[in-house]
Amino acid sequence: MKAFVTGSTGMLGINLIRQLTAQGHEVKALVRSKQKGNKLLGDTGAEMIVGDMEQVEEWATSLQGCDTLFHTAAYFRETFAPGAHWPQLERINVTNTVRLFEEASLSGVGKIIHTSSNATIRKREDGTPSNESDVMSPGEALNDYGRSKVIGDQRIAVFSGQLGVPVVTMKPSWMIGPWDAAPTSGGKLVLDYMNRRLPGFIADSGIDVVDPRDVAEAMIISAERITESDSFILSAHHVSQRQLMEVLEEATGIPAPRLQLPKRLLLAAAWAAERYAAATGKTLSLSVNGIRSITNKKRTSAAKAESVLGIHFRPLIETIRDTVNWYKAR
Ligand SMILES: NC(=O)c1ccc[n+]([C@@H]2O[C@H](COP(=O)([O-])OP(=O)(O)OC[C@H]3O[C@@H](n4cnc5c(N)ncnc54)[C@H](OP(=O)(O)O)[C@@H]3O)[C@@H](O)[C@H]2O)c1
Repeated sequence: MKAFVTGSTGMLGINLIRQLTAQGHEVKALVRSKQKGNKLLGDTGAEMIVGDMEQVEEWATSLQGCDTLFHTAAYFRETFAPGAHWPQLERINVTNTVRLFEEASLSGVGKIIHTSSNATIRKREDGTPSNESDVMSPGEALNDYGRSKVIGDQRIAVFSGQLGVPVVTMKPSWMIGPWDAAPTSGGKLVLDYMNRRLPGFIADSGIDVVDPRDVAEAMIISAERITESDSFILSAHHVSQRQLMEVLEEATGIPAPRLQLPKRLLLAAAWAAERYAAATGKTLSLSVNGIRSITNKKRTSAAKAESVLGIHFRPLIETIRDTVNWYKAR
């Protein structure tokens, strides 16, 4: 396959490009910085295309000759304070994503593998795992980022229907894994743990986790086998924060914090931290949205991906160990 990958210097993009090139596929990799691209992908043989999702038309001709577009770039952090980032979220995750897909279709790209999120999936109040049919309406999203993904998916469905290009949409849960250079919130948690910066845990919590390498594998299988527009939830393990800490303890040898932190206290601290961050321009790990996500206890089922794509998710200890080792090596 001749693949065009966006978000190539992100956690998912790097893992995807590494798998694609290892399997002998040709890759054009969209990067915002060639220097960053060379540092993270220099050994893969991927062709670097410099461009920004802010100006799709500037680099869209590079899509020519590619048969598959893998779109992983997004304006994305769960920690965005309400309202503050909506214009960028709307522009990158909705308007310009559809613009990119239109350009891809005009350039002869025959299939699009898109990255949405399980943040677009509604929680079932009876506690059973939600599936691909439990799609949220925009008003139900937990935060602005989730809302942009819900609206993006709706617009993409219209695009795909009109232009006849199949779009296979991946809906990963919280990704933790190697090559998280940014780092995203998953990598931040692992780094904070390694640096003994976590004072305690929230007992009443639960979140789905998946390894980006398993998501990347599902994307490649989808590109090879799925011929119609479809969507797949990719979530491997449902864990409480305490269980996650126990796995981190096993992987690092650092004792897990024993202190239970009340959710209300943390929400108040996060609210204050967000005000501080807004005033100083600093980025903090603590956020109201982050706490809401980890205490939401939504379960999503990847049964469809397992049966249709044949995906097997790796054990959580392998994910955490490899992530810890990746950070240690750097
Ligand atoms: N991480 C998760 O827990 C999670 C869960 C569900 C879904 N997702 C989705 O998975 C996808 C990949 O996320 P990730 O975890 O790999 O995050 P990431 O490491 O932050 O990667 C995001 C990528 O998007 C690129 N990007 C952002 N704005 C851009 C712009 N204006 N133009 C071009 N590229 C731009 C970034 O480029 P730079 O490297 O230049 O910054 C980066 O390569 C996203 O669509 C995200 O919404 C993530």
